[in-house]
Amino acid sequence: MAVVPLPRVLSGIQPTAGSFHLGNYLGALRQWVALQETTEAFYCVVDLHAITQDWNPDELRQNTLTSAAQLLALGVDPARSTLFVQSHVPEHVRLSWVLECIARFGEASRMTQFKDKSQREGAEGSSVGLFTYPVLMAADILAYQADQVPVGDDQRQHLELTRDLATRFNSRFGRTFTVPSGFIPEAGARVMDLQSPGKKMSKSLPPAGCVFLLDEPSVTAKKIRSAVTDTGREVVADPVNKPGVTNLLGIHSALSGRSVADLEQHFAGRGYGDLKKELAEVVADVVTPIRTRTQELVDDRAELERILAAGAARAREVAGVTVAAAYERAGFLAPAAGVVA
Ligand code: TRP
Repeated sequence: MAVVPLPRVLSGIQPTAGSFHLGNYLGALRQWVALQETTEAFYCVVDLHAITQDWNPDELRQNTLTSAAQLLALGVDPARSTLFVQSHVPEHVRLSWVLECIARFGEASRMTQFKDKSQREGAEGSSVGLFTYPVLMAADILAYQADQVPVGDDQRQHLELTRDLATRFNSRFGRTFTVPSGFIPEAGARVMDLQSPGKKMSKSLPPAGCVFLLDEPSVTAKKIRSAVTDTGREVVADPVNKPGVTNLLGIHSALSGRSVADLEQHFAGRGYGDLKKELAEVVADVVTPIRTRTQELVDDRAELERILAAGAARAREVAGVTVAAAYERAGFLAPAAGVVA
């Protein structure tokens, strides 16, 4: 009987904060865990992507470790998936250069994330790395011949570029890369800021509106208690007139697994205070074990580093094959035996 290989998945997350937040968890990371069941998954902490704007080296190192620890704590299982740190796998950068040379300046200039992120410094003052960021992301994906890439909606354009670059390379030099498809998680898991429910939860907004996985439980409870609610008293979902309450119900539903309609019934005749109190408990039930496990892993740095070293070794095996093929097709002279490349 022929063995049908599992579809391969690759995704990455930046270690730019000391903690992931509920939006990361419900929007993406929970999918990562679920996908381990049905796919061969590669997950990386994309530290190279974290230096495209000003950074602090000590914080980057610490955040990389804490990010990996959180991924393990929330259910990424190194026995089933390959978890690694991007900078441990030099194949990403080796492939990225070739892709930069087939990407066009014009198409990179159209990336809306670059336009947004370069607004502060202006294009003149932004790093070249910020500009080529999506090409490195393409290399992350193509190096593993990923079939699917679970990403948020904001990464759709980068994924489209990845597909274009794969197709272009394949048609010029022969079929080398799998052209990946997106995998945008179904709506409903879109978590909004607690203080500005019109905006996506984000670490770049003031911390009062953002529930971090590693927040103390008392801090989380306070953030939820202080969440913006809406006029009226009824606990019902109404995205137009009650965006705050709708968001709280959505978070409750995503974490408790109960439908919003069921929750509306559950809270019938009760007020916003009851909703917030219960939501704080629901959040704590999910987040507290993650927080505890993260701390244990961070405290056992040797074990954490062992897991990441094993992940990097496995990642290099897979990415190395792709990069060797791409270099050969691109016409680079193969280094003679004994020459390290
Ligand atoms: N750009 C992605 C983000 O900001 C992170 C990322 C980097 C990524 N490389 C990737 C996501 C490869 C998926 C696949 O969310």
